[in-house]
Amino acid sequence: MISTLTKRVKGVEYAIREIAAIAHEVAKSGKQVYHLNIGDPVFYDFPTPDFISDALFNASRNGKNYYVNSLGVVELREELSKTLKEKQNLDIKVDDILVTSGVTEGINFIISSLIENGRELLIPGPSYPLYINYTNFYDGKPIEYELDENQDWEPNIEDLRKKITDKTQAILICSPNNPTGVLYGEQKIKAIIDLAGEYNLPILSDEIYDQITYDKPYVCPASLSKDVPVIGLNGFSKTHLVTGWRLGYLYYHDPHNKLEELKNGVAKLARARLSSSSVAQYAAVEILKTESDHTINMVRKLKDRRDYSYERLRKIEGFSCVKPNGAFYLFPKLDLAGLRKWKTDKDLVVDLLKTTGVCAVYGSGFGSYGNGHMRLTFLPEIDTLEIVYNLIEDFLK
Ligand SMILES: Cc1ncc(COP(=O)(O)O)c(C=O)c1O
Repeated sequence: MISTLTKRVKGVEYAIREIAAIAHEVAKSGKQVYHLNIGDPVFYDFPTPDFISDALFNASRNGKNYYVNSLGVVELREELSKTLKEKQNLDIKVDDILVTSGVTEGINFIISSLIENGRELLIPGPSYPLYINYTNFYDGKPIEYELDENQDWEPNIEDLRKKITDKTQAILICSPNNPTGVLYGEQKIKAIIDLAGEYNLPILSDEIYDQITYDKPYVCPASLSKDVPVIGLNGFSKTHLVTGWRLGYLYYHDPHNKLEELKNGVAKLARARLSSSSVAQYAAVEILKTESDHTINMVRKLKDRRDYSYERLRKIEGFSCVKPNGAFYLFPKLDLAGLRKWKTDKDLVVDLLKTTGVCAVYGSGFGSYGNGHMRLTFLPEIDTLEIVYNLIEDFLK
């Protein structure tokens, strides 16, 4: 074997995919696997609407198969600018929008532009693993600020304040949140904006679940910020049921032009990778121009599944859970001391998978604040959820 793999690549971990590999082995042994580990609605009974698939086909048939503008097709950026005005009352210029291959690429662009040599990024804890991975990858330090489980996972502002240092480059918000499902309240977002203003830091706002909320309305950080720069990251994956297209965008809300250097750097990165998918971008123009209730219908179905799952989960001894207000995950706490049999969340999750076929993700895969938890999606149909929760109940007995 030739051993040239870099340390930074060896360090990449992604629990969501790691558990999928164990699930694959379990399935090969003939056992039915119930996937509650995948945050992809299209994998369940939320197919891509026909008009969206047709738009992709037509884009290709109409010859849009060439490299396009590295910043993104202008027509798409115009539609995105209109959508940001209509939905969030933001005035974002077309040139302040960059089309990316998913939020994933947007996060990579921003983190690689801000982070090197021990610089710090403040991220919520528990954290979506991508933020940790990229920050480490670029030789920086991901610093988690606490989402407080006792306060329905709302951010702990005092903890955040304490963790700001002269190495901090930005504060990241992820609301609605993966994995906790919390929707940051308006007061908390304002407090974060004030802190960012005090320390002259930009805010990164991962908004991939902004359309998937229950009970409480979504609050867009940029719409609350008068002078603090906010970089919004969003995409088509979840809202428009096209996870596999890999299409996202980022926008700069930058009232006092503090981000000029960063914007130019990110644009250079965008040019270096030529462009994101041309056909997906032209299809996305059609998606945004077409009135459709596919997202509302998805959220309606998901709300029933959330309610069902939450009711089942909260009756299981050894688990306690905050009711999520957005996204499609539950993140229960496991009473490992009381349950006795398992030392760690990973032990329990792997045993659950091997014994029952129920595949969740262990909480420690979401950073240190995730320890002692597990993440379950409520994307499957209620019939499946019923089987799953029966299996979990029996397993714990
Ligand atoms: C919080 C969060 N951000 C980003 C992504 C990735 O989004 P995309 O498909 O646009 O790359 C996910 C996917 O699960 C996510 O949960």
